[in-house]
Amino acid sequence: MKTDIFSNYLGPKAENAELLKELLNKIVDTQSEWRKSFHPEDASLFPKNNSDNSQFIEIFEKFLAQSKNNPPYFSPRYSAQMLKDPTLSAILGYLTYMLSNPNNHAYEGGPLTTEMEMKTTSMLLTMCGYSEGWGHLTSGGSLANTEALWAIRDFYKNDDAVIFSSVCHYSWKRICSILKVDNFIEAPVDSKLHIDLNFVEDYAKRNKIKAVIGNLGSTGAGSIDDIVSLVQLKNKFGFHLHIDAAYGGFFRSSILDENNKRLSFNATSVNSEYTYNQLNALKDTDSITIDPHKQGLVSYGAGAVLYKNEKLKSVMLNTAPYTYHITDKPNIGMFSMEGSRPGAMAAACYLTYLTYPLNISGVGNILSYSFSAAKKFSELINTSNNFASIHSPDLDICCFFPKTSKKNVAELNTRSQKIYDKFCLQTENPSFILSKFVMPADIAKIVLPDFDNPLNESVTALRSVFMKHWNALDDHRYVILLTEKLEEVFAEEFLS
Ligand SMILES: Cc1ncc(COP(=O)(O)O)c(C=O)c1O
Repeated sequence: MKTDIFSNYLGPKAENAELLKELLNKIVDTQSEWRKSFHPEDASLFPKNNSDNSQFIEIFEKFLAQSKNNPPYFSPRYSAQMLKDPTLSAILGYLTYMLSNPNNHAYEGGPLTTEMEMKTTSMLLTMCGYSEGWGHLTSGGSLANTEALWAIRDFYKNDDAVIFSSVCHYSWKRICSILKVDNFIEAPVDSKLHIDLNFVEDYAKRNKIKAVIGNLGSTGAGSIDDIVSLVQLKNKFGFHLHIDAAYGGFFRSSILDENNKRLSFNATSVNSEYTYNQLNALKDTDSITIDPHKQGLVSYGAGAVLYKNEKLKSVMLNTAPYTYHITDKPNIGMFSMEGSRPGAMAAACYLTYLTYPLNISGVGNILSYSFSAAKKFSELINTSNNFASIHSPDLDICCFFPKTSKKNVAELNTRSQKIYDKFCLQTENPSFILSKFVMPADIAKIVLPDFDNPLNESVTALRSVFMKHWNALDDHRYVILLTEKLEEVFAEEFLS
């Protein structure tokens, strides 16, 4: 049975506001009862008439009023960046434990929430197809990537090359600099923004490779490297294959049935057989970065790193004389880069994946709507006289551009910018909010080979991230409206 897609969200029009208020009250009531029952003989330390809260309330009310100036990330009209509402489970799970503030660094700092983190990790391992392994939550994807490269660097004890593609997340170069992994190589990409496999193979024939970092959902375009082929190369040449699935990893839940068995391609809503095969191949890799705070339905503050070979954690072992007193239980901080981490975040993830299992009945069902919205948008753009796609979306991110009178990069850039100016946060009351994807000239030459680019300019495309399941509802109402608005602006700007 599929989990309901409405009941666990505040909703774009605050449809579940009353439910949220009711459940928030229950959290405060439960917390209060607990506090009162702990050594009930202890008298309150507060003054008889309680304290004067008026100054705090005044400051808070001003602060609260300002929160409405934040961009409307909850709306299907916002598809600029990787931002969407968390589930009510995430909000309530977080708050339930935040009130007592456990720290999952050592077991004694958060026994219940450490158990929740281990259970969440086990669910993530299962979703990714790892039958064994180790992992934990991190504060985000950059930290997960950093820890993974640290473990890889020290576990294999050689200075062989680390390869990642030129569309990988910017953090990879920064991480190499921090970890002093100087022997890194940025591989070129093909016209679909996938890592150039010939480059990797040619390099492997001539040199030793320590690790290849593959993308499962590049930040700019959501592109997925050919993981099936990378696994074959890894088996042939013996390197470590880490997948940066910070954005796309949760889409693997959409190819699993309620018992976590793989569905056939035709039984899923996955965009293409290519994407389906790469999601499946995740199981054959060595380590994974996967962010609950991107497509895992929770709020910001949760990444995760998973290792198939638990031995990799040994290179990170760290002890301390003043903590880790409970030795027969997991002390996650002994094997992680970060120290203190919020137990509340583990609770948010755990409650969310209890409510939305990591397969087609839960998260996978929600993400099927994202596939559908991107597919619909791509179809509409591909049949438009005025716009064209730079790629067919592997996931739910679509990059596209306004057509030009001549195939010329300068004109394309001017037109993209004019359209963007009407669909950005800086515009007063924009009908929709989009972002840009700026491709360096060398990548643009591969993606748009027939465009003249005498000045070697970067190419600016428009970008829409269809993360919200709201986009696909009501026969793709907001996807269709977005394309109508784009056509309207194109006509006003370039046809009148
Ligand atoms: C593919 C990928 N990797 C890593 C990161 C970094 O994650 P974070 O911003 O959570 O540190 C991102 C962020 O967008 C990403 O998309």
